[in-house]
Amino acid sequence: ERGGYPHFMLKEIFEQPETLKNCMSGRINVEATNVTLSGIIDHKDKFIQAKRIIIVACGTSWHAGLIGKYLFEEFCRVPVEVEYASEFRYRHPVIHPEDIVIAISQSGETADSLAAIELARHAGAFVYGICNVVGSSIPRNTHSGSYTHCGHEIGVASTKAFTAQITVLTMMALAIGKEKGKISVEKYLAVIKELSHIPEKIERVLALNKSIKKLSRIFTYARNFIYLGRGYNYPIALEGALKLKEISYIHAEGYPAAEMKHGPIALIDNEMPVVAIATHNTVYEKVVSNIQEIKARNGRVIAIVTEGDKSVKSLVDHCIEIPSTEECLEPLLTSIPLQLIAYHIAVNKNRDVDMPRNLAKSVTVE
Ligand code: M6R
Repeated sequence: ERGGYPHFMLKEIFEQPETLKNCMSGRINVEATNVTLSGIIDHKDKFIQAKRIIIVACGTSWHAGLIGKYLFEEFCRVPVEVEYASEFRYRHPVIHPEDIVIAISQSGETADSLAAIELARHAGAFVYGICNVVGSSIPRNTHSGSYTHCGHEIGVASTKAFTAQITVLTMMALAIGKEKGKISVEKYLAVIKELSHIPEKIERVLALNKSIKKLSRIFTYARNFIYLGRGYNYPIALEGALKLKEISYIHAEGYPAAEMKHGPIALIDNEMPVVAIATHNTVYEKVVSNIQEIKARNGRVIAIVTEGDKSVKSLVDHCIEIPSTEECLEPLLTSIPLQLIAYHIAVNKNRDVDMPRNLAKSVTVE
């Protein structure tokens, strides 16, 4: 049932072109000119009038939520807060009836996320779910929602559910942004068109598996890792570090690249591998100078770059080249090599990739 793959995780990583097609199917039209999400259409006014969006989630789903913040702010011009469900539920959060609370959860059973939406409902907010497991507790306890439709995820480390969550958030931001008139027609059309090409671009990233496997050997015995990204790729740095931690048990931290100089750069020496996302986008130059600072301190840098990049290549130790895309869609591509790096390092270390120690697929207790 692993379909010839040695682990469910690898199978699920390779399924992503297909799972994202399923996620978009019936939502993006064949001409790739329009997005429709029934959960939004049915509650259009709520979304148009919302004064604020609060996203609650845990773990990888929380990282998807961070990307959601960038998307909703850019395309819908609405303030967004992203909260760890476990913190939100025990604070005294200020929730208004004009707020929309979005819970993101693969399993739909995460205890803290369920408690957070309970709280939000009592405060009168409109609660929307983004879940994978059909009929699970979160979809049953929300006013509306969208399923990610990526199929059963078995590996404890979430991969295909994450990219499907980002895809749903992107479609939501496009649909709401259009209703609110906050996204230009050109941008709306450009992003949808690109989104429809993401599955084939992921195929191209997956074709790099062999070289990523080879690269991972060099870093298998590192004791620590740092992941850096900015803008839309900052949450991907966090997610890359989480993947490595949970399945290889190597200590890793993700940072917004510019934060390095505020402390963590003190950690850099030639035994500290740094994975830097330096794709060709609006923050490219900034990330390049952050990489220069790392190199000046003898850090070893693996960079994720856009195909054809020259300046980063001449600067760093290893490069992984991925296809170019709309900046807001880059997370869907940049997350793939980081999933593969974590996977191969864990396999090299003989770890139980699908069932890492101390972890459960869904955290139904707090
Ligand atoms: O089922 P959920 O999406 O609510 O789960 C949330 C986290 O427990 C989950 O993402 C966890 O962090 C994964 N093991 C990450 O790979």
